Amino acid sequence: MKDKRILLGISGGIAAYKMATLTRLLVKAGASVRVVMTEEAQAFITPLTLATLSKNPVLSRLYNPVDGTWHNHVELGLWADLMLLAPATANTLAKMAAGAADNLLLTTYLSARCPVWVAPAMDLDMWQHAATQRNLETLRKDGVRVLPPDAGELASGLSGPGRLPEPEHLAALVAQWFAGEGLASSSSDSGKALPLSGKKALITAGPTYEALDPVRFIGNHSSGKMGIALAEALAELGASVVLVKGPTNLNSRSAQVRELAVTSAGAMFEACSEHFAQSDIFIAAAAVADYRPERPSNQKIKKKEADSDRMTLTLVKTTDILAEMGKRKKPGQLVVGFALETENEVENALSKLERKNLDLIVLNSLNDAGAGFGVDTNRITLIENRNRIDNFPLMSKTDAARTIAQRIVDLLP
Ligand code: CTP
Repeated sequence: MKDKRILLGISGGIAAYKMATLTRLLVKAGASVRVVMTEEAQAFITPLTLATLSKNPVLSRLYNPVDGTWHNHVELGLWADLMLLAPATANTLAKMAAGAADNLLLTTYLSARCPVWVAPAMDLDMWQHAATQRNLETLRKDGVRVLPPDAGELASGLSGPGRLPEPEHLAALVAQWFAGEGLASSSSDSGKALPLSGKKALITAGPTYEALDPVRFIGNHSSGKMGIALAEALAELGASVVLVKGPTNLNSRSAQVRELAVTSAGAMFEACSEHFAQSDIFIAAAAVADYRPERPSNQKIKKKEADSDRMTLTLVKTTDILAEMGKRKKPGQLVVGFALETENEVENALSKLERKNLDLIVLNSLNDAGAGFGVDTNRITLIENRNRIDNFPLMSKTDAARTIAQRIVDLLP
């Protein structure tokens, strides 16, 4: 990052304290850092701290109230190679989307000619609100890169997406981006240096619903969190991702993730069949129903008063999507599966790895508190073969996804 000019825009959220570390990491990596912060942000971290760490004065106001000097936002906007707004509050995002210009941070944003990234951080309800999501969509259309927030415990006590990613992770993203840009300017192939640039990934996520009749189905409690986190982790490393997603309310926030919504195992299989041949990486993270009702009824099934108290359903096997893609795998393609086990965990996972012709299997233990369906954390074991088995501690699904993504980078030819 030597000699790169990074403009940090800080708005008023509790995560502003993390910006001291980010500033220090960027400066240590050789970047020139300048900081613009809103007045509200000063309640969370002092300009003095950031000025000391960045070795530059920190600006907040449009002018100096003592001597009336005008702070030139145009000059700042032209100076930067990259502008990163972190934490970006719901309020600042809304103003950016609307083109408001009532503080120095916003006028600088409007003057910036460089790429602009935002790292939103806020409470779960604010993050999920339609207005916030609409504003982010507007910003994406305006060319702003939105870095997805981490999920976890929030300052309010709620748990979910909304946390500012750790400074180390933000610094790594900035470094990767500059490394890619550096190569791009010498090779004209833009973004080549991100480890998964130009790679296509196909990922399944969430549950499937197998219809019994028009109003009932057999399903499961998968939230899709792990598959979505994987899609975002691969996108962060430069891949373009097709996410085939069973019924869940959760969405990916990344512009590089294209979501295809499906309902049943059959539809998930068809979507995967269509995209598999063009994909470099296939990951089956969905909790696919192994069986479906043999003959779903066209009409709502009626309760039969005169009949017995029992009802028998005939179920038939669904296609094992992962095994099928394993069969179709060509040299150069990587196929990754999940195993959710309760007993003989490693042995069962190894047998699945071989049976389904996989390159990597991610073992989740249902015996661990904090791992499995619906929760934000996971304990994973990565298994490549009998001699390469790595256990990881309990971590957020975002971090687990990044760990898996990194292993995929290592495994790709
Ligand atoms: N899977 C799939 N299609 C199916 C069933 C499973 O793609 N119809 C994938 C899952 O996404 C997961 C892996 O296969 O990546 C493991 O699935 P699991 O149901 O645990 O294993 P099975 O092979 O079905 O074996 P068992 O039920 O005996 O554990």
